[in-house]
Amino acid sequence: MIWRKIWQLKIAPDSNYITRVLLYSFPSALVFALLVSLSLLTPYWALLSYVWVVIFNMIILLPSCFELQLVKNYIRRLAKGEAGQHKINLSDNEASQIAEAVNSMHKFWAYRIDELEAQTMSDAAVLDTLPDPVMMIDHVGDIIGANLAARNLLGENLTKSNVEKVFEYHPFINALNRILNKETEAENLFFYLHNNLEQKMYAHIKSLPWFSKGRAVAVIALYDLSKSLSVEKMQSDFVANASHELRTPLSVISGFIETLQTTAKDDENARADFLKIMADQAEYMSSLIENLLSLSRIEMQLHERPSVPTDVERIMSEAIEALEVKAKERQVKIKLKVLKNLPQIPADAAQIRQVFQNLLENALKYGISPGTINVQIGLAESIPPSKTFSVAQGKALVVSVNNKGPRIKPEDLSRLTERFYRIQEHKDLNIKGTGLGLSIAKQVIRRHQGNLTVSSTNSNGTTFTVYLPIQLS
Ligand SMILES: Nc1ncnc2c1ncn2[C@@H]1O[C@H](COP(=O)(O)OP(=O)(O)OP(=O)(O)O)[C@@H](O)[C@H]1O
Ligand SMILES: [Mg+2]
Repeated sequence: MIWRKIWQLKIAPDSNYITRVLLYSFPSALVFALLVSLSLLTPYWALLSYVWVVIFNMIILLPSCFELQLVKNYIRRLAKGEAGQHKINLSDNEASQIAEAVNSMHKFWAYRIDELEAQTMSDAAVLDTLPDPVMMIDHVGDIIGANLAARNLLGENLTKSNVEKVFEYHPFINALNRILNKETEAENLFFYLHNNLEQKMYAHIKSLPWFSKGRAVAVIALYDLSKSLSVEKMQSDFVANASHELRTPLSVISGFIETLQTTAKDDENARADFLKIMADQAEYMSSLIENLLSLSRIEMQLHERPSVPTDVERIMSEAIEALEVKAKERQVKIKLKVLKNLPQIPADAAQIRQVFQNLLENALKYGISPGTINVQIGLAESIPPSKTFSVAQGKALVVSVNNKGPRIKPEDLSRLTERFYRIQEHKDLNIKGTGLGLSIAKQVIRRHQGNLTVSSTNSNGTTFTVYLPIQLS
């Protein structure tokens, strides 16, 4: 059978085979030469016998030589990564043992390589989940690995670049060089990315310990400080705005007190007028403080999920009732239309009442008089997404408050929920307000994972729409 295989595969015996046959036949050649020299054998028979020995050795050695050649070829294919699918059947014991050993070694390494690949992939996936950019650097400062946050910040081709090209900031490069030259273990520094004053970064550069063995010798971790700086700026702007808003009525009140103490000391008429203005200013200050306090209370509860089943229709009816006197004064009718069989929703009733009251008060203050405010409560299949916070999935209650009046300009419309923002015409008309009602409403709705939208046209007036999820996610 082996002979048929040799014939079919047409494997030519290599030079090792010829050498081996001659080597194996050499002792017989010596014996025949000795017999000839002792005249025990004629040279003719000696030569004939030697040729037979050679032919015999050729026949004996050919299968094992052939199979060794098969094993050699098999190992070559394994090295090229082609083998595995072609198994070899060997009859020679020695050769098949070698093939077996090579096979199991190949299996072991293939398994180790798979394991290493899986480990590398899972390490890369873990690094990609980090919110901050992380990069690995080799001994010449080339970036040889970067997580998703780093690639998003500095470009997809980051891993083919050198740190000097990417950062172009000398103190940063010097710090990295000190790490690469093993002068220090770690460096921390602040810098502006691409000299952009809006993008302040904090960098932590650290050399890798000697036992980490890879090509990477250092790691750079970046922290984007611009977001926290903008939060800080928002907070300081808020404090500045709040103090400014409080200082204005306070300076009006102290101005009038001074006038009453001096020039208008004995002026009865002026005193009555001034006291009225002072009372108005004091009232404004107290509603400002009240609103500021409720805003901070709501912000403290922002991450507490409201859970009490609440009847939104009842809350709206109560809010309308509370404003009945004011509505009569303004000759405004408030009409409520509610879809039947509305479900209760998980909500904070007091906060939702505050939202409805502010929307109704706004419709009364800024809508036309005499006129009508139309309130509707219904259902929506989903909540429109918000740019600044996440909203719940699924169905929602929809509460809309509409009043007739001139269209709000788009540049004002997009800023209505900003703290202290008021439309200039309303300030000029002396309509009282702190500019905090809608920002309170927005935070309450945010806590409920809902949304607040506003639309305004000349024909339909202004409509504020509140979406409140039926189920919180
Ligand atoms: N229905 C509306 N029609 C027209 N403009 C409105 C309407 N609602 C609000 N606005 C404008 O949006 C601004 C902000 O409203 P917001 O309720 O936050 O504050 P405010 O009513 O001025 O004061 P506060 O509610 O704190 O007493 C208002 O000053 C007003 O200019
Ligand atoms: Mg208001």
